[in-house]
Amino acid sequence: MSPSTTPAGPLQRRVTDQLAQFRRDGVYKQMLYLESPQAARVRMEGHGEVIILSSNNYLGLSDHPAVMAAGKAGIDRFGAGTASVRFICGTFTIHRELEASLAALVGTEASTSFVSCWNANEALPATILTANDIILSDQLNHASIIDAMRLAKAITKCETGVFGHGDYADLDRKLAAASDKDVKLVVSDGVFSMEGSIVDLPALLAVCRKHGALVWLDDSHATGVLGPGGRGTAEHFGLVGEVDLITSTLGKALGGAAGGFAAGSAAVCDFLMQRARPQLFTNALPATVAASALEAVRIVRAEPGRVAQLRDNAAYFRGRLVELGFRPLPGDTPIVPVILGETAAAIRMSELLLEQGVFVTGFGYPVVPQGEARVRCQVSAAHTRDDLDQALDAFARVGRELKLVQ
Ligand SMILES: Cc1ncc(COP(=O)(O)O)c(C=O)c1O
Repeated sequence: MSPSTTPAGPLQRRVTDQLAQFRRDGVYKQMLYLESPQAARVRMEGHGEVIILSSNNYLGLSDHPAVMAAGKAGIDRFGAGTASVRFICGTFTIHRELEASLAALVGTEASTSFVSCWNANEALPATILTANDIILSDQLNHASIIDAMRLAKAITKCETGVFGHGDYADLDRKLAAASDKDVKLVVSDGVFSMEGSIVDLPALLAVCRKHGALVWLDDSHATGVLGPGGRGTAEHFGLVGEVDLITSTLGKALGGAAGGFAAGSAAVCDFLMQRARPQLFTNALPATVAASALEAVRIVRAEPGRVAQLRDNAAYFRGRLVELGFRPLPGDTPIVPVILGETAAAIRMSELLLEQGVFVTGFGYPVVPQGEARVRCQVSAAHTRDDLDQALDAFARVGRELKLVQ
């Protein structure tokens, strides 16, 4: 039987025309296929061995033998499928264990897992807010938070607003104007993934406390990364236990498979379990993923040396890049963006780097503001000095070819 095709018509014409336009604009995303696990070096179809400097595998746990073994044991014990929604057909004990360990890691009373952090983010405000509440979001927050706000507004009729990036004077004004609201919720990324910068949590907490507002952090790029024990943004600032709500992903430092969670008080987490639509109308995390994430959390707790290694690697890479004449955005995280201006320049640089055996993605508008296209490097604890030096040599060669450095 031949595959079905969409009949010629307005939809088919629209998507075909737009795809052609993406190609003409040089913004079409070419998929690159990997033939080996996520690691410091991978085998990429058509390119051979490549150093990956663009993955969220911050702690090198994606192919860690114990994380993989835990996933296999999880499938052996609980099977391949969850087969329905948790409250309908039963919750695996591994989910309860995972949720307790995640809450302990980030320093909250409880947590509720979701199949992705995207889902956790969409679930949170749309479930806990009502019509006389307001949610205010940092201008540079992740796309999932932007969509979560749209959804919350449509579902709950709450008010939504945006404050300037890290502009807490603006937030202060907006919270003062919202003094009649029942719940005031303020959301920020812990680490801004396109900038590699860290939220000023003490300042954010001070403004929110002044107005009786709750703080929600999305710590997807901070869990396993920030703080001496990898416990996230709160630990980085010595403020564990002070953040009201935390969402984060299992798809980055914590094994990198998939999954996310919302963490906070036991009552809020229970309420999410009772009422969140992405909990009530979709299957739970596969048990194999829950098991490997649980092992990843155990490793983070037992081996803080990995987090220290990540920090050392990031500082080394950033420092050497500056010595080569590049001007990465300043920061203290393993995300090291180099601004190039036009989208086509960022894509060109990433293509040339790939020819040199280094995989770094170029990002352009609309992911980042117009004129601020960049290549974004992400360092991992799994990178050896040799990996980083080889990548830096490639940066030097490509930088000279593009006349970015001398
Ligand atoms: C800040 C932030 N929040 C949420 C997500 C979504 O995470 P997940 O892949 O678990 O849906 C991401 C992933 O890119 C992210 O960077």
